[in-house]
Amino acid sequence: MRNIVLIGFMGTGKSTVGKRLAQSLSWNFVDTDCEIGEVTSLSVSEIFRRHGETRFRSEESIVVTRLSQQEQLVIATGGGTVLNPLNLSALAKNGIVIALHASLEAILSRIGHKNDRPLLKGPREAIEKLWSERQNVYVQADYIVDTSQKNVDEVVKEILLLLE
Ligand code: S3P
Repeated sequence: MRNIVLIGFMGTGKSTVGKRLAQSLSWNFVDTDCEIGEVTSLSVSEIFRRHGETRFRSEESIVVTRLSQQEQLVIATGGGTVLNPLNLSALAKNGIVIALHASLEAILSRIGHKNDRPLLKGPREAIEKLWSERQNVYVQADYIVDTSQKNVDEVVKEILLLLE
């Protein structure tokens, strides 16, 4: 059984939705950021701070290669994982790719003050630029689900319907 891969910008709900979706299907859930954390024993922000984004991206690709070889997983990727076309093709080869979309307003209000994401620390204009540049990548998914106005249950239900 192919994996279900959630892609999309930070704060679109990939991890929250992924966990709930995995529960509904009785599949295992994995989050690429958590896997990187386990392998390196560092949090994402520590890797960025101590070793830089390049090192983070290389750890991310190693994790993606490993997870792409497994089956029946719900995989929540990091927002930048599929910027590397090799990551996207590895994930897509063995998985259905679903992009979670959300408006920038919805994302910023969800993230609020609890923001430890290194790439969301800049001014709003910089975040907006990143968000709009990345939409071209996320549209390569098999399906796109807008999570802006929906709760977790509604998003999971919509994904389950897509998979029927
Ligand atoms: C990133 C998103 C983060 C994490 C890292 C880089 C990105 O994951 O992988 O901070 O480039 O968009 P989430 O999308 O789970 O926040």
